[in-house]
Amino acid sequence: MMQMREPGLCTVDVERGELKGATNRYVKTLLDLEGLYEDQAAYTSLLAKMADEIVYEVTDYKPSSMSGDMIIGVTRMIPGKVGNEYFLTRGHIHAKPNRPEMYYGEKGTGIMLLESPAGEIRTIEIAPRTMCYVPPFWIHRSVNTGPGELVMTFAYPADSGQDYDIIAKAGGMRNRIIDDGKGGWKAVENKQYRVRSDHLIAEIQAKAD
Ligand SMILES: [Fe+2]
Repeated sequence: MMQMREPGLCTVDVERGELKGATNRYVKTLLDLEGLYEDQAAYTSLLAKMADEIVYEVTDYKPSSMSGDMIIGVTRMIPGKVGNEYFLTRGHIHAKPNRPEMYYGEKGTGIMLLESPAGEIRTIEIAPRTMCYVPPFWIHRSVNTGPGELVMTFAYPADSGQDYDIIAKAGGMRNRIIDDGKGGWKAVENKQYRVRSDHLIAEIQAKAD
């Protein structure tokens, strides 16, 4: 007979930006985010001030990594900029790229930056009570464009996995999210970006089990 999994109960601590009852937690410091920002000099000088400070944190509840199961969790990112570029997460495509994701704004404001393998860009504004659907096959990263912490809850299929290299190999994502000088944000071209080959795009699209 099929083994029934027990229901889970977690609580979202919006103020602390964490999931109570999580089974996993990981953090990223500024030092972990080397190479992501355009302004190397600004990165180095900020590193001297806050190398060990946690820039973002993920707490999640992962019942299993089985196909058909689901991972739920909370992500929290502090506000800040490296030069004029807003703090961001490393970003990824799912290792099984045809897996989707949902993000829900709890506190603060930011951007979900999405890129298709062919290099199309979408920017979705996140605020409290907005829900962002990340479709299959989109590379995604979150950016804190607000004055305070950005806290979101999320859910995605448990067998999705994460491939971070796809961004690194392309020299980053196609756009960077920078301060527009008026307290807002704007997306600009990333000068280091290299367009993926048709062969690589086809290879990613073929990974659809
Ligand atoms: Fe994801």
